[in-house]
Amino acid sequence: MKIRWLGHACFLVENKRKIIIDPFLTGNPLAPVKPSDVGVDAVLVTHGHGDHLGDAVEIARNNDCPVVAIHELSRILGEQGIEAVGMNIGGTATVSDVAVTMVKAFHSADYEGERGIISAGDPAGFVVEMDGKRVYHCGDTDVFLDMELIGELYSPNVMLVPIGGWYTMGVKEAVKAVELVKPEIAIPMHYNTFPVIEADPEEFKKEAENRVEGVRVVILKPGEHVEI
Ligand code: NI
Ligand code: MN
Repeated sequence: MKIRWLGHACFLVENKRKIIIDPFLTGNPLAPVKPSDVGVDAVLVTHGHGDHLGDAVEIARNNDCPVVAIHELSRILGEQGIEAVGMNIGGTATVSDVAVTMVKAFHSADYEGERGIISAGDPAGFVVEMDGKRVYHCGDTDVFLDMELIGELYSPNVMLVPIGGWYTMGVKEAVKAVELVKPEIAIPMHYNTFPVIEADPEEFKKEAENRVEGVRVVILKPGEHVEI
């Protein structure tokens, strides 16, 4: 399984199937690709904030593929003529042959569109399973103790962790999050896209690898990938 970072909170997870999570490409100064370059079987969106929903509708249209989101956000997206798959926290949906589990995130969410700013359900994270390997995308969140349950229930091989602070947890909280989940590999995200979320991924790597036995922190540049 390949996990490619496309900047901010956007990742491509691919094996026999290809999915994209939180495709914020247009307007992201660090995005290495354009929405029209993306070929996928499904789009996953953790919450309605613009830096996560991003180009989801355009990518779904281009690929004639579904967008998966929490029920309320899926209803808003479904009005735009795409296939929107609504689910909720704790549930597992099979989408384009990929098992997608929605998990908690400790954050907020809204949606900005033709009707102005409207509420769009709770924010979420995802555990994606493909060919026996599992990736946990935390979404935007602070650390919370139930992350230990997510680790216990789903044993993610890879954890995608926000470290930028201000809108999400920063390095200190992210290290604790890795300690609770205990993945094999942790990849930092949601940092250095904008000045207010500046963070040092090397500091995160040093602290997490010191504190959590068996974890390897892999720092990617936008466009780079890991293979597991
Ligand atoms: Ni957010
Ligand atoms: Mn965000």
